[in-house]
Amino acid sequence: MDRLMQDKAVVVTGAGRGLGEAFAVQVARAGGAVVVNDVEAGLAERTAENIRQHGGRAVASGHSVADPAQAQAIVDLCVGEFGRIDGLVNNAGLNYEALPWDDDVEQARELVEVNVLGVMYTGLAAIKAMVAGGIHGSIVNISSGASLGQRKLGVYAASKGAVASLTYSWALDLEEHGIRANAVCPVAHTRMVWKSERALRACPPERTPSRIAPVVLFLLGDGSAGITGQMIRCNGPQLHVMGQPFLKQPILERQAWDAETVQNAFDEVFSAHLENYGLEKRVPPRLRKWTDSSRIA
Ligand SMILES: NC(=O)c1ccc[n+]([C@@H]2O[C@H](COP(=O)([O-])OP(=O)(O)OC[C@H]3O[C@@H](n4cnc5c(N)ncnc54)[C@H](O)[C@@H]3O)[C@@H](O)[C@H]2O)c1
Repeated sequence: MDRLMQDKAVVVTGAGRGLGEAFAVQVARAGGAVVVNDVEAGLAERTAENIRQHGGRAVASGHSVADPAQAQAIVDLCVGEFGRIDGLVNNAGLNYEALPWDDDVEQARELVEVNVLGVMYTGLAAIKAMVAGGIHGSIVNISSGASLGQRKLGVYAASKGAVASLTYSWALDLEEHGIRANAVCPVAHTRMVWKSERALRACPPERTPSRIAPVVLFLLGDGSAGITGQMIRCNGPQLHVMGQPFLKQPILERQAWDAETVQNAFDEVFSAHLENYGLEKRVPPRLRKWTDSSRIA
């Protein structure tokens, strides 16, 4: 188990602090060579130096994942330095809270550039290198339980939903090349959590990033062969597979739908099939009279 990543080279983005740092350290401890990337170059160098001082193999990259040329350079650094790329942990991310009517479009754009485009740019560069090298690699995208929908986190939640969709799609396309793509939804006490009172309440200090790292290590390693297209959530003592959206029955059929038949479908059939929504599983208003026990006469 100790040398799980022996002979493998892995890129971890956003690894200057928090979860990424823990992932990079764990990969190195397991014998893997690591590109420690962080747009804060000094932090990336600090993590890489720490790994080297403990006898591990690491190089630092201060590139931004949000720029396609720089994302390519991160992957090139891995291949140039270690001769191959076996794994990518798409971890770099931004987060902020805002109610929709207070949200700032510039902040939204910046978040999407890192959380969505950054994952695409780095992922596509890594996938091309793996396919070209015939490497049966593993991609681990860091998504979030917020992808199910959370208050004040619309833009962040959407970015993590995009990461989930990418993961499922890449898993489908990459299987024939022996490359796997999975996502991890962590909960860990990091800078991201310190910024939010609600997140702090849900995430006590003992939920350290190093508690998530074994899950990422497992997905990178050969022990998870045959596991792809999955979202795995790790929250303190809990480890579970996230359910995935699907086309729900009943599927009604008409030659063509008009306003009246759509209304009828919802009044007569779909009322009973509406989904609770968001991570909190909120009951749709139309159904609350049936589910709210305080309103039962
Ligand atoms: N902490 C949690 O509970 C939690 C929950 C769900 C998902 N996540 C996800 O885990 C990942 C890591 O989060 P964290 O909690 O460690 O946050 P963090 O803020 O401590 O670390 C994120 C790192 O990414 C780096 N980064 C930002 N933009 C970058 C860019 N353009 N290029 C390269 N690096 C960049 C930052 O400099 C920072 O060091 C994020 O994707 C986050 O959305 C965290």
